[in-house]
Amino acid sequence: MSETIIPAIQMTAVVAMAKNRIIGDGRGLLWHLRDDLKRVKALTMGCPLIMGRKTWDSIGRPLPGRASIVMTRDPDWVAEGAYRVADISAAITASIDWINANEGAKLNIILFGGGEIYRQGLDYCTRIELTVVDLLPDGGTEPAYFPDFNMADWHQTIEADMPADAESPAFQYQTLTRPVAPRPLTTA
Ligand SMILES: NC(=O)c1ccc[n+]([C@@H]2O[C@H](COP(=O)([O-])OP(=O)(O)OC[C@H]3O[C@@H](n4cnc5c(N)ncnc54)[C@H](OP(=O)(O)O)[C@@H]3O)[C@@H](O)[C@H]2O)c1
Repeated sequence: MSETIIPAIQMTAVVAMAKNRIIGDGRGLLWHLRDDLKRVKALTMGCPLIMGRKTWDSIGRPLPGRASIVMTRDPDWVAEGAYRVADISAAITASIDWINANEGAKLNIILFGGGEIYRQGLDYCTRIELTVVDLLPDGGTEPAYFPDFNMADWHQTIEADMPADAESPAFQYQTLTRPVAPRPLTTA
């Protein structure tokens, strides 16, 4: 008798972080990395993106080919092209519903930031697609940070070193995978 394997939906954090863990100043990014933006697009296309309302504000529009699942505590918040959710559980449910409703969607939920949302969602992730930016920026009065996770829980692969050029600092692509199962996305 053959066994039916049901592919599982997983969660991946995608983030660019400076060497002091800063990811932004609360309003936007503190660097422009053209190559990284292309990588983010490739990694996230066909996926639901879970993001905080401040990150949504910093982007200002839905990203094509992806679902923008926006966490906010404001029950009256609306924005064209965004799915409002009240907490991380609702964000996961909305992401799974979107994947199931969209033929060709990837079985991957992207934890898209910012700092508050990475903190609440990292336990669910099996993977982190990490760009480490060779900078020590001042994040201003409302700095956003990637959480200080335990590296011993992750297997690290260095994918590529990108040298500095006239418009960008040097940066490094890393993929981190979690050898043990993360927190389950559903309790069913
Ligand atoms: N470098 C990167 O890869 C990267 C990626 C993403 C973002 N960023 C940067 O990160 C910064 C934003 O990060 P941030 O930490 O300041 O804000 P954020 O995580 O983007 O959004 C915070 C907001 O999310 C909502 N929220 C948080 N927890 C919630 C919960 N449990 N339930 C419901 N809503 C919840 C609240 O919205 P309300 O106030 O509306 O209630 C809160 O103010 C920006 O500078 C952005 O550019 C960087």
